[in-house]
Amino acid sequence: MLNGENTMTSNEIKTLDQQKVMQTYARFDVVIERGEGATVYSPEGKEYIDFSSGIGVNSIGYGNKKWADAIYKQAMKLQHISNLYYSEPYTKLAETLTKRTGMKNVFFSNAGADANEGMIKLARKYSFDKYCTPDSSSSVIASARSNPDSNPRSTIISLVQSFHGRTITTLAATGQETFHNYFFPFTEGFKHVVANDIEALKKELTNDVCAILVELVQGEGGVLPLCLDYAKEVSKLCKENDLLLLIDEVQTGVGRTGTLFAFQQYGIDPDVISFAKGIAGGLPLGGFIANEKCSKVLTAGTHATTFGGNPVAAAGAIEVLEQLDIETLKEVTKKGEYIKETVKSWGIDYIGEIRGKGLMLGISLIDAVPREIAQKCVDNGLLILTAGADALRMLPPLTITYEELDKGLKILMNALEGKE
Ligand SMILES: Cc1ncc(COP(=O)(O)O)c(C=O)c1O
Repeated sequence: MLNGENTMTSNEIKTLDQQKVMQTYARFDVVIERGEGATVYSPEGKEYIDFSSGIGVNSIGYGNKKWADAIYKQAMKLQHISNLYYSEPYTKLAETLTKRTGMKNVFFSNAGADANEGMIKLARKYSFDKYCTPDSSSSVIASARSNPDSNPRSTIISLVQSFHGRTITTLAATGQETFHNYFFPFTEGFKHVVANDIEALKKELTNDVCAILVELVQGEGGVLPLCLDYAKEVSKLCKENDLLLLIDEVQTGVGRTGTLFAFQQYGIDPDVISFAKGIAGGLPLGGFIANEKCSKVLTAGTHATTFGGNPVAAAGAIEVLEQLDIETLKEVTKKGEYIKETVKSWGIDYIGEIRGKGLMLGISLIDAVPREIAQKCVDNGLLILTAGADALRMLPPLTITYEELDKGLKILMNALEGKE
């Protein structure tokens, strides 16, 4: 048997999984073996249109030959090297990301949560370097150690309904109580304010705040976009008060909302943005990009990771960014509009809002359980997600064709109309 060739049936895989894997995921009753374009198949050949892309990861779809060639070539040349040495894919990817964002430099991590952790560390250190003063008898670090409150600015404000990851610190940043159950105590120094309410934010801007952390479209929270005016006002408050504006682009980034990063359609200049999910087309990679002001905050020894910027993942990411050119990104916006118009045209009365940007869309349902509709869709050959309490969520590959969209939308319409 060739490594990578499957030999088990769907039932065998499910049974073994339930015995041998920690059951932390509320899995659908589906096994996926392979994919092509925006369609995936079970071992028995059952076809599913994929409106989920592995939760926004498979940005350029399945079976993408140029991408597979790029990672194969890199794997044969050099699969990994310590971050103690330089390597070309890593450096080239950083060059592309800075060019296409107008920002200054990059730190590479493995996924979204650790990207956000690093971004939070950067914000704390920016504030430490600038605002922490030693007492007369010891160094800055010694006095900070003996008195954790000696950094007068360490608090980060994030938003209610936000999601920033599953580590203890990114959970502390996450503004949804349901994710906090069981895991106390959390990292200190986080406060949450209601999104799109600038007065609520102003009230919390006490002297201890060093940064504001937001998603421009809250994904896990229910696909909730921030208002343009609010985002601009937040950016202005950050500038006026020397607070860092941190944008979590883990889900919104890499073309998902129709621009390479969502901040580029909000007309704001963040200090640091994080990314992950779609960046390497399905390989694990994340990171954060800093502007000039924040580019030298993290210095040798202050932050590191073994795998971050791995050459194979970086080679995949370079290919992803090449394929996500301006024309493809414009198409993302058009396809998003097409989905919105199509769903509206069904006139289904229990559909509330159709929210989101580009191919990051949520359909809110009134008095219906999103998971039950998603289950019906899955049964009939469409993978679709839920988000927040009331929404179905769509994150298809950015390269999905109109034919695949139509097939998937028909299954969704039937599920919503209760036909199947
Ligand atoms: C906005 C946002 N931030 C952070 C994360 C965490 O990313 P990861 O699961 O790669 O750690 C997610 C994951 O869904 C996310 O949507």
